[in-house]
Amino acid sequence: MKTITIAIDGHSSTGKSTVARALAQHLGYVYIDSGAMYRTITLYALEHDMFENGLVKPNLLIEALPGIEVAFEKNELGQNVPHLNGRNCTIEIRQMLISELVSQVAAIPEVREKMVAMQRSFQTQGGVVMDGRDIGSVVFPNADLKLFMTATAEVRAQRRFIEIQESDPSVTYQQVYDNVVARDAMDSSRAVSPLIVADGAVVIDNSEMNQADQFQMILQLAQDRIYNRI
Ligand code: DC
Repeated sequence: MKTITIAIDGHSSTGKSTVARALAQHLGYVYIDSGAMYRTITLYALEHDMFENGLVKPNLLIEALPGIEVAFEKNELGQNVPHLNGRNCTIEIRQMLISELVSQVAAIPEVREKMVAMQRSFQTQGGVVMDGRDIGSVVFPNADLKLFMTATAEVRAQRRFIEIQESDPSVTYQQVYDNVVARDAMDSSRAVSPLIVADGAVVIDNSEMNQADQFQMILQLAQDRIYNRI
């Protein structure tokens, strides 16, 4: 059976990674969360004092890049989880502080260059589902299926707020909402690889869609391509 490349981009907290992971599992494909890679680099920068007054010092980070190893290793459930220089950093990269700082790091061209090269290397492993912001536009412009997911900022903040309560109950809805809006603005307006609807992408607004219906719809789109029905 033919294997395909599926690129899922869109706004933050639209459930890209949930649907991407489920799709990869269903199809037996590799799932790569590209946002986790930018978060992992941000964690490194934070641990090595590369922020001053909340602003990243790009030159320090660029200089350190050759020594920063971002990798995915399988956990006990067989899922690819992010590692920073050999250490599992799955939990740490989800902290609110990382969410607040990551857009600055993701805007550095040298960081993107390193991440994009690594992201492309996953295609050699067969079927791939990758989610992020520039997967259909930059990383895999020839992807067989491109999706662009969106939802209203209020719906996205509410979903993220519920999720974040589990790890950090002190975070307020307003903080999460502000972060969602700020990240959208930064991701869409940056000079390098801004968040755009890639050529040929199917746009899905899931503000009022449940997860099961969305999954079925996306699976159908993938199967149409796998079996050459379109
Ligand atoms: O998907 P996420 O929220 O975990 O992504 C974290 C940040 O990384 C987000 O602010 C945008 C950035 N990012 C990016 O610039 N390009 C990607 N391919 C994935 C994420």
